[in-house]
Amino acid sequence: MKKNIFKDKQTVAQAFANYLAEQIEKANTFHIALSGGSTPKILFQLLADQYAKKIDWQKVHLYWGDERCVPPTDADSNYGMTKEKLIDHIPIPFVNVHRVLGARNPTEEAIRYGKEIQWCLPEEKGLPVFDVVMLGMGSDGHTASIFPHQMELLTTNDICGVATHPESGQKRVTLTGPVINHAKQVHFLVTGGSKNDKVQAIFNKEGNYLDYPAAHIKGAIWWMDEAASSEG
Ligand code: 6PG
Repeated sequence: MKKNIFKDKQTVAQAFANYLAEQIEKANTFHIALSGGSTPKILFQLLADQYAKKIDWQKVHLYWGDERCVPPTDADSNYGMTKEKLIDHIPIPFVNVHRVLGARNPTEEAIRYGKEIQWCLPEEKGLPVFDVVMLGMGSDGHTASIFPHQMELLTTNDICGVATHPESGQKRVTLTGPVINHAKQVHFLVTGGSKNDKVQAIFNKEGNYLDYPAAHIKGAIWWMDEAASSEG
């Protein structure tokens, strides 16, 4: 695990936008799983503003690490947010956008999306290999849509699983732990003071840190603002 710390959300998003652009430039094809959340929203806006013409979007394939089971027009849709902030402003081929069909039956969609991922991505040891999986962490330690009450999603053999948000009961489709851990690169974008206790526990392997799903993601780079990385 490695930490990259910046002043605030905006500078975290800017640094990660620059990093991603460099990574894409070096690649022939680039399969990336995106996340929802507040810092990615800024990141997508920056990519659209600064990199619409500079990145060769033909070679980029977009997926989602997790999606809320709602139609794409719903304010909760991670795809909907990404479309508004990024996809509508860049010359990416339609066929390169691999979204979760959030309006479908979650169980069936988790199976279908898992097959789409297997079909499109290179495979190694029976698992698909993303170039980059981008993640956030919630203040309860969840990542993607793997919440602390569904730790089995960290070890299942499935590519995708169905998660239930602990408070709202909303269903979600999420990548599972083995697939995330099999990616070439995993990056956490974590900002805000409500997460610093979990960040400390995970980095220092303290207390019941293993109860936090994010602690089970190996070898990731954590891009954080000062508030998230402070000792509180
Ligand atoms: C989602 C996520 C989720 C998110 C965290 C952090 O779609 O809800 O992918 O895992 O990354 O909840 O969200 P914030 O960055 O907004 O705090």
